[in-house]
Amino acid sequence: MPAAFSPDLLDALIDDLARQGWSQQRHALSAAQIAALADECRARHARGELQHATIGRAATQTLDAQVRGDHIQWLERGRSTVTDAYLEVLDNLRETLNRTLYLGLEDYESHFALYPPGSFYHRHLDRFRDDDRRMVTTILYLNEDWRAEDGGALQLELGEGRSTRILPEAGTLVVFMAGDFPHEVLLAQRERLSITGWFRRRGVGMLG
Ligand code: OGA
Ligand code: MN
Repeated sequence: MPAAFSPDLLDALIDDLARQGWSQQRHALSAAQIAALADECRARHARGELQHATIGRAATQTLDAQVRGDHIQWLERGRSTVTDAYLEVLDNLRETLNRTLYLGLEDYESHFALYPPGSFYHRHLDRFRDDDRRMVTTILYLNEDWRAEDGGALQLELGEGRSTRILPEAGTLVVFMAGDFPHEVLLAQRERLSITGWFRRRGVGMLG
């Protein structure tokens, strides 16, 4: 995997973020790179490493399949070559966002997500009430040949009653300001894989 997204993609993404706070880019990585990430996600799921996602943070965490039905595993460095390479690409994006948009992003947390057929994630914001460090959301989709009838679109509310639906097609990258865009995952008819992550700022008045 190259160590960064292409210069053209980065230019377009920064332009979109500066203008409208969100961006959708197709073919962010090669088909082979996406397939390797999808294989890694499926292998980890087969080993039972993905867990039912929870809602909220630490003490307030609850498990509620009525709200979100995905299974996740947080990415850690040193677990696989392909995820390490992806984290390097995202670290380069973090530096680019800091250099061009002065966002002061300090780190990146991310997880594989697998939505079994019949699952969804209700409308929500990616910033927690008790933790506003998440500044920018990134989602990379890993699903080859996704069709509209497979469902599972990301519905992103753009304000003023407008919204857009993005299909989770392999290689599509979505980036948006985490506190500004309510969104939901519509019911998926087939297994739906992604890597979701957040660039974070240092907390004000908090440790770490
Ligand atoms: C999330 C989320 C959207 C998607 O994990 O917070 O909103 O399209 N994911 O996977
Ligand atoms: Mn979300």
